[in-house]
Amino acid sequence: MKKQLIVGAAVAALTVVTLTSCSGTARGGSDSGATSIPKGSTIGVALPAKTSQNWVLAKAAFESSLKKAGFKADVQYAAATNTVPDQQNQISGMVTKGDKAIIIAAQDGSQLGTQVKQAKAAGIPVIAWDRNITGTKNVDYYVAFNNFKVGQLQGQALLDGLKKLKGNGPYNVELFAGSPDDANAPVFFNGAMDVLQPKIDDGTLKVVSGQTKFTQVSTQGWLAQNAQTRMSNLLQSNYSGSTKLDGVLSPNDTLGRAILQATKSAGKPNPVVTGQDSETASIPLIMNGTQYSTIYKNTDVEAQAAVDLVTTLSKGDKPKTVLDKKNNYNGVKTVPAIELTPVLVTKDNAVKAYSNNPTLEALAKAGQ
Ligand code: BGC
Repeated sequence: MKKQLIVGAAVAALTVVTLTSCSGTARGGSDSGATSIPKGSTIGVALPAKTSQNWVLAKAAFESSLKKAGFKADVQYAAATNTVPDQQNQISGMVTKGDKAIIIAAQDGSQLGTQVKQAKAAGIPVIAWDRNITGTKNVDYYVAFNNFKVGQLQGQALLDGLKKLKGNGPYNVELFAGSPDDANAPVFFNGAMDVLQPKIDDGTLKVVSGQTKFTQVSTQGWLAQNAQTRMSNLLQSNYSGSTKLDGVLSPNDTLGRAILQATKSAGKPNPVVTGQDSETASIPLIMNGTQYSTIYKNTDVEAQAAVDLVTTLSKGDKPKTVLDKKNNYNGVKTVPAIELTPVLVTKDNAVKAYSNNPTLEALAKAGQ
């Protein structure tokens, strides 16, 4: 019903293909879905456990933008324990209750096949949000920031920070990635390695532990404690003598702060540490030089993009999406996506980067 026309050859070339929206003929037509998401109906939003501040902010962002768009919001978080079954039950519940579209930020993107199939059978559009849903054809759209780009920005920030703060290389570094059950985590890491691998190959960067594979550097559950423990162990095994640790690739702010905690506890000088999410706890650290960088992915904008998509579908129109295999291939298909642009933030551009966000802007100004 709402299938996109997919241009296979272009997908193979890993290029972004913009699909132009179809003509107005779909509006009001019997195959348009025009009546499937009536105004005033309830939209389900299934969010993962609150492993970082962006998820905490997401609930209010969806509630307010869905309300403004004329829909009711049914927002649910997966519990902190028993997380995957909890989210599976919540999504099944949304289907049974008759929510008219379901937006999902997956706890484990590989374990929702049954639930999205159920939604599909009931004619309910499924939108993966921020994290893709993998191994199924039953995900209709994906709304997210360009995750590969996030990784590239993190890799470049690590190089820039090293050059700026640690003199001339070669530099000793360690690498961290996110949780293996989050489809974003390998994409962030691959984006970073796209920038860092050539510098490892030419000797500019030395990963002293030798741990450079995603499976060696990932952080189960995106949990701060796991990153802190790994960093402490790495310091003990590889940096006990005079070997200096110059920098650490961290995939987000929560883990970045955990890494910094481990180096501090070990009495080591501050390494250059990257991040992501522009968490309120990290901005003061960026402004005082403790954490080098973060990424700004405005949660309100990301939620609004998903709600705009629902509005488009409710009118029976076809949304404008891109096919971007590098970012959005889910193992079965490249999910038609709405891709937003992430922004790298350091002390130098923080005030400007956060100028549309009073809370973050104030924190940046306070630390100037
Ligand atoms: C999100 C990040 C977040 C991480 C941990 C990822 O899927 O894209 O913004 O830091 O999950 O919660």
